[in-house]
Amino acid sequence: MPAARRDPYPPGMDLREELPSDEQSVRDVHLQAFGRGHAVGDLVGSLRDTITPQSGLSLLAELDGQVVGHVMFTRCLLDAPARLVDVQVLSPVGVLPEFQRRGIGSALIRHGLETLAERAVPVVFLEGNPAYYSRFGFVRGEDLGFRKPSLRIPDGAFQAITLPAHEPWMTGTLVYSEPFWRHDAVGLRNPD
Ligand SMILES: CC(C)(COP(=O)(O)OP(=O)(O)OC[C@H]1O[C@@H](n2cnc3c(N)ncnc32)[C@H](O)[C@@H]1OP(=O)(O)O)[C@@H](O)C(=O)NCCC(=O)NCCS
Repeated sequence: MPAARRDPYPPGMDLREELPSDEQSVRDVHLQAFGRGHAVGDLVGSLRDTITPQSGLSLLAELDGQVVGHVMFTRCLLDAPARLVDVQVLSPVGVLPEFQRRGIGSALIRHGLETLAERAVPVVFLEGNPAYYSRFGFVRGEDLGFRKPSLRIPDGAFQAITLPAHEPWMTGTLVYSEPFWRHDAVGLRNPD
């Protein structure tokens, strides 16, 4: 496991990979951040099972020994014309409400993207608000030649960032891993 990184901002914050003993703290972060019961925590539990030393990343932020934020990246597939390509999806990211707007979410996402770039991941996808994710370099997936995995994802919410390992032929449709479907965590249901 890579060494934990002490980030200069916010002061006193450490970023490190999740350990088995962190599971409850991570669940609590999402319970409070999303305020949607255990749905996100349950999704995290299933996505965690797909993470291996070679693929996926579960990162948390600690402030004075307390887990205050968490981000997860897991393997999905890009159905490119030439062949299937391993890519990563950022989901979920959450910061305890009382610790939001201090740069913790940004630090988690930036550190995660740097780690995935070092691992030669070609593309990272997500569903979210462009007003937040554009600061990290995410753009509309369609603008990079990607197609969203469900028509229930609003245009603009389907975003992607290409990393140095990306090659021009790597276009096509994102295929979510099975846990996203099992937990019905794709796009919006009954948006009306
Ligand atoms: C989204 C989240 C992880 C950001 O973490 P954070 O530590 O507060 O983020 P940072 O401090 O790095 O950045 C704060 C900035 O993000 C903006 N921001 C936060 N959530 C946002 C959202 N959903 N849409 C747009 N902007 C958002 C804030 O307004 C703030 O903007 P500013 O820098 O212009 O003041 C956190 O707000 C959270 O846990 N939200 C609830 C769960 C959630 O919605 N997760 C993302 C699902 S797509």
